[in-house]
Amino acid sequence: MEGLGADGIIAVNNGAGGHLGNIPASVLVPALKSVCKIPVISAGGVGTGSGILSMLALGADGLSIGTPFIATKESGVSDEYKKACVDYSAEDIVVTTKLSGSRCTVLNTPYVKKIGTDQNILENLLSKNKQIKKYAKMLTYYKGMKAIEKAAFSATYKNVWCAGTSVEFTNEIGTIKGIVDRFKSEMTEAENNLLKTLGRV
Ligand SMILES: Cc1cc2nc3c(=O)[nH]c(=O)nc-3n(C[C@H](O)[C@H](O)[C@H](O)COP(=O)(O)O)c2cc1C
Repeated sequence: MEGLGADGIIAVNNGAGGHLGNIPASVLVPALKSVCKIPVISAGGVGTGSGILSMLALGADGLSIGTPFIATKESGVSDEYKKACVDYSAEDIVVTTKLSGSRCTVLNTPYVKKIGTDQNILENLLSKNKQIKKYAKMLTYYKGMKAIEKAAFSATYKNVWCAGTSVEFTNEIGTIKGIVDRFKSEMTEAENNLLKTLGRV
């Protein structure tokens, strides 16, 4: 990507909300830092100030944080989706290929439990067929993203709500400023604790 002229790289790890990677941040960030000159932005699994500090310690130049901001007053998604982010925790996050053909994290709602998280035999066959797999994938992706959009913004029993494991730290419907302020104070606390652990203070 650097060779193609990218200004930076979003390193989506295996803890990310939405379409996730396969590699943990502890491996992905240092691996990319050792070969890239452009900034590496770590994406996934961070919902606390200590999490931010840990990514910076790994060498990340910045972070992309998504899940913690779903349940905010400013967010345009439905109240049901926001409430689910408050009620559900890390262990309620499942990975599904049903929505887009690619691995994507969702809250394990009763509807997700009902439809399952794997593509059916027909979808599987179509996505493996050389001639039509590109079109089959495009169609699955289009249908899946429409379903996600519908579930996010309107009342439906077909609740497919995207979120990552950092939903663990969403305990109320807050504001963006409130969350950023919490991150800042948690970072200071984590930094002080770390310095104590390292015997530097
Ligand atoms: C509900 C939701 C929707 C997302 N939509 C997109 C998207 O349209 N395009 C994109 O590149 N990333 C998208 N992402 C991924 C985020 O940009 C970011 O990489 C990811 O959320 C970081 O992981 P976290 O949610 O664990 O913080 C989405 C993530 C979530 C949770």
